[in-house]
Amino acid sequence: MNVLVTGGAGYVGSHAAKLLAREGHELWIYDNLVFGHRGAAPAGRLIEGDLLDFDKLAGVLREKEIDAVMHFAAFAYVGESVTDPAKYYRNNVLGTLSLMEAMRATGVSKIVFSSTCATYGEPDSVPIRETQPQRPINPYGFTKLVIEHALADYTRAYGWGYAALRYFNAAGASADGDIGEDHDPETHLIPLILQVALGQREKVTIFGDRLPTPDGTCIRDYIHVDDLATAHLAALGKLEKGTELKLNLGTGRGTSVREVIDACREVTGHPIPADVAGPRAGDPPSLVADPSSALQALGWKAKFTEIRPIVESAWKWHKAHPKGYGDRG
Ligand code: UFG
Repeated sequence: MNVLVTGGAGYVGSHAAKLLAREGHELWIYDNLVFGHRGAAPAGRLIEGDLLDFDKLAGVLREKEIDAVMHFAAFAYVGESVTDPAKYYRNNVLGTLSLMEAMRATGVSKIVFSSTCATYGEPDSVPIRETQPQRPINPYGFTKLVIEHALADYTRAYGWGYAALRYFNAAGASADGDIGEDHDPETHLIPLILQVALGQREKVTIFGDRLPTPDGTCIRDYIHVDDLATAHLAALGKLEKGTELKLNLGTGRGTSVREVIDACREVTGHPIPADVAGPRAGDPPSLVADPSSALQALGWKAKFTEIRPIVESAWKWHKAHPKGYGDRG
């Protein structure tokens, strides 16, 4: 298929693009490089552009004879979405609607969309099923939920096919250590811990150790980025007129912040000093997926089910690229 990968120079998008290329698809990356990295995109495949540039998007969809879109491009800092919601509604909602209108104008009707467990807000119970209510507790989660609804409406009215894939905590890096996670600023737990092991940071701070979990620290479902990529390709293969897939992508297994730090200590051999602060506002104590719908709908399940190999793959990337894509753009 000819696939347009928006945000394909970003963390999850670049791993999906790499897999698309390996599976023989013709792909084009569309990325404004605000957070994406030139070095993360396959050579010769990057088109620099913004989602809000309707004419450019429509031109690319038409010229490259695109059959389907994988839409990763979005802002994803939960805290910033609270202090600057306009930025999030503009990029994540208006930008995506611009993309959807460009698709309509050019007759492209298949899309795989990056959604998030943040659309569930504070769940009543874990593991979380797709049927549980979606009640986001921050603007980031709302922007993703708005697009889930828009996709459902477009699909029913215009005969589209879509998959909204609700990621839990994306983690790890490509097995060959060639692409990985590089955010600026970095806010995610595993890369922050590994920066301590690299000597770039003195310590890691645990956000809360008296939460209602077995060791008192937050529990998350860390899902390897290559497993996310595999799910995207499986979803792409299912899209037909009228297809509506809303699926959790997680392992079904929760890992606490302390367990993540311990795994990083084992993998890196570094003592990784840690202190404890209060919980971060809006952080639910436990978010774990029930991934059984994805197994049923796509025949997909995560290959990486333990935290240690996920950390090992991340460490391989961070060790080889201590400045991330710094030297590659
Ligand atoms: N954490 C710490 N110390 C840190 C950073 C994080 O203890 O310095 C904890 C957090 O409290 C959380 C866990 O580590 O419990 C993971 O935090 P991340 O920031 O890595 O990830 P989040 O769970 O906050 O965020 C992820 C995605 C978001 C998405 C969210 C849904 O990055 O895009 O899941 O809850 F919105």
